[in-house]
Amino acid sequence: MQQDAATMPITSTGVSTGHGLDWPALFATRADRMKASEIRELLKLLDQPDVISFAGGIPDPALFPAEAFGAALTSALSGDTRGAALQYSVSEGYKPLREWLVTRMASLGVECTADNIMITSGSQQALDYLGKLFLSPGDTALVGWPTYLGALQAFNAYEPTYDRLTPLGNRSAADYRETAQAKGGAVKFAYASADFANPTGETLQASARQNILDLATELDIAVIEDAAYQSLRYEGEEVPPMLALDIARNGSIDNTRTIYCGSFSKTLAPGLRVGWVCAAKPVISKLVLMKQAADLHSATLNQMAIHQVASDGFEAQVAKIKTTYQARRDAMLAALSRHMPEGVTWTKPDGGMFVWVTLPEQFDGAALLAESIRSERVAFVPGKAFFADGSGANTIRLSFSCASEAMIEEGIIRLGRVVRGG
Ligand SMILES: Cc1ncc(COP(=O)(O)O)c(C=O)c1O
Repeated sequence: MQQDAATMPITSTGVSTGHGLDWPALFATRADRMKASEIRELLKLLDQPDVISFAGGIPDPALFPAEAFGAALTSALSGDTRGAALQYSVSEGYKPLREWLVTRMASLGVECTADNIMITSGSQQALDYLGKLFLSPGDTALVGWPTYLGALQAFNAYEPTYDRLTPLGNRSAADYRETAQAKGGAVKFAYASADFANPTGETLQASARQNILDLATELDIAVIEDAAYQSLRYEGEEVPPMLALDIARNGSIDNTRTIYCGSFSKTLAPGLRVGWVCAAKPVISKLVLMKQAADLHSATLNQMAIHQVASDGFEAQVAKIKTTYQARRDAMLAALSRHMPEGVTWTKPDGGMFVWVTLPEQFDGAALLAESIRSERVAFVPGKAFFADGSGANTIRLSFSCASEAMIEEGIIRLGRVVRGG
């Protein structure tokens, strides 16, 4: 019987066994930290039609501007542009798209030029490159407890240690420095998702952003600003990106330490894999060399299509999806207050796709997921995987992006029953 990758036996290093060769012994030490997620088996069940899933943190495919992409791709492949669309291109990225992004960044308070921007294959690629650029084995990355799992996975390959980034400004630079030295390296960057973070949905207020910049200045380290959800604000005032605050402190983007990672995945379409980095030129120059070595450039045709669709109607597309997601967020928050028992708390995000639920101490999110799928056919992501120190067992992440309001109500009723029984 043919086995697919998901059902192959997995060793502790996450490597399939069975061909005689001792592959793990051959792999570099960095491969040790690339592990299959424990919850993978459970989440495989999500494809079943009777499961209500709050697990995937992905956009609703019904909201993709598919027709606009169809027209943009046809146009890119006709006339004068068809050769360029299918040809090798520069590692920095498609110039008209970078120029569009200059205007977009200016609207967020970031004055820059196209030389401050490199296109990446999703912002995930930027996180990998930044891990590669900054982290020698044993160096320290400052991350939230919890933080985006994909960032931990990207950085893990470069064998760092992690320390907890607290945006309250209540830990001294000297303490961070000494902790990193004791672990045999230096602090290299602070990573933060400032708006509607994955997994918590929380937003850093301006004072917290300033605290992170103060700490980074004292430690003389970089700040990686993950802006994947930045455009998805449903209420409240916009808070300037950390990069804009950094420019205000230092006069010009080329004097800043903040590296902004943007993405079209949550607004236009993740499948085209187009994101960008906006930062000081010395950082961009180095990233361009890394991109040359890694994949030469992101797919030209995809960049052209994104440019066309963004130029024709980025704001309208964002307004459309925000209306839908906001209604789903409201439905989830209302359902949680109706159906969750005493002792359960959750975040109230101003945007994004996630609500972060904290259960009483004795709960284990992974065990609750197993029970929830078995008895009530509801799925979510246990929170522990988002903590670099393995804590957070009593937390879970709910995504409201892909379920209708009626499904959200029904799913939260069922989840409430599981929690009451747990
Ligand atoms: C916080 C965060 N950063 C980055 C990414 C990567 O997105 P992409 O590579 O599609 O831009 C994601 C995807 O879910 C995310 O949640």
